Amino acid sequence: MDKIEIIGGAPLHGTVQISGAKNAALPLLAASILVQGAVDYTNIPDLMDIKSIKSLLQDLGANIESSGSRVRIDASPIHKIEAEYDLVRKMRASILVLGPLVARFGHARVSLPGGCAIGARPVDLHLKGLEALGAKISIEHGYIEATTEGRLKGNEFYFDIPTVTGTENLMMAATLATGTTVLRNCAREPEITALADALNRMGADVTGAGTAVIKINGVETKSLKSATVYVIPDRIEAGTFMVAAAATKGDVLIKGAKAEHIGEIISKLRQSGASVEITDDGIRVKGVENIKSTDIKTLPYPGFPTDMQAQFMVLMSIADGNSVVHETIFENRFIHVNELQRMGADISISGGNYAMVRGVKSLSGAQVMASDLRASASLVIAGLVAKGTTTINRVYHIDRGYESIEKKFSSLGANIRRC
Ligand code: UD1
Repeated sequence: MDKIEIIGGAPLHGTVQISGAKNAALPLLAASILVQGAVDYTNIPDLMDIKSIKSLLQDLGANIESSGSRVRIDASPIHKIEAEYDLVRKMRASILVLGPLVARFGHARVSLPGGCAIGARPVDLHLKGLEALGAKISIEHGYIEATTEGRLKGNEFYFDIPTVTGTENLMMAATLATGTTVLRNCAREPEITALADALNRMGADVTGAGTAVIKINGVETKSLKSATVYVIPDRIEAGTFMVAAAATKGDVLIKGAKAEHIGEIISKLRQSGASVEITDDGIRVKGVENIKSTDIKTLPYPGFPTDMQAQFMVLMSIADGNSVVHETIFENRFIHVNELQRMGADISISGGNYAMVRGVKSLSGAQVMASDLRASASLVIAGLVAKGTTTINRVYHIDRGYESIEKKFSSLGANIRRC
């Protein structure tokens, strides 16, 4: 099994190009199910999660052609409405095929995603939302079964919690429903706006994405047509490189990063003393010798993203003074803390979702274990900062969401290799 080995201590310098966003690409690829014709995607990142959703769509019967970061999906020949356990268990976001399948075929069977390292992560709101659109839902033998007589029916639905994939699933399902759907308390992530834009380019009628209330006037399947869809840059990959630049006290231009998608990361980095300059083609981050302690609290967008919590914690672990990290989105999202402690960080967890980080002078390289995608990214940053050698085991987690991570870091002067 692959490992990543890092000899820390080198400040990062240079320019890095950000890839297309995993969390935008996944719903965009699932949306192809709605269209009887080919959808052309550009800027698709080369990641395990993308391979997983392509395998799933292929298993349903879609034709897929890929060339570099371009992917063409023709979902016209789909003949199967079941997303099997073996495909869903690899990636929870496979639930994104549920809405489009039931909307187009009136029937879908999707394996219930199991628990995962960062908490229970239920899908109850996806299911309640589909029920509000008239689907009958049952759970049998570990599968969600959703059926509808004729088309789904537009309705109002309020999300008790703003859920990203839940909002996306419902937006896609409502696209082919009769009448108007109004979704309230929606998640407002840029990936949701990107999905709405793509659906509209395909012929859907979606307004309000990026706000808490999204309105969808349903259309018939035949109204949806082929389109070309560009995947927005990955704001979490950008944030990860920004924090790495600050933590190693380097100077990096993160090309393609969109400042308007990461206002909260920029603010917190500036609060920590780093210089963050917004340029025409990206964001330049320069680290400082004395990092200031900075509290963070994860929140739904536009709050500080839970997907950046672990990486920011590494920066705080070498800051002057104490910082509090408050995780409010997922329970059990501090698994990286044990590993960071093994590298000399001084962090204690209280009440389950607060971490008190007491800054130390330096971290020291160690053997560590990646537990989930973003935790793995935090260990890479810790390894870049630490004195000596860090070996990160189970790096398959990182390949789910970061394209060529060791190549990108080594082009910035890091001593990092896969072994
Ligand atoms: C998405 C992102 C993930 C990110 C997360 C939060 C994708 C593919 N993944 O995951 O990287 O960490 O948003 O920004 O875009 N919840 C329920 N019931 C539901 C659905 C969610 O209670 O039916 C809860 C969750 O347990 C969690 C909160 O809502 O506490 C937000 O989760 P959600 O936004 O749904 O996360 P995902 O869409 O799975």
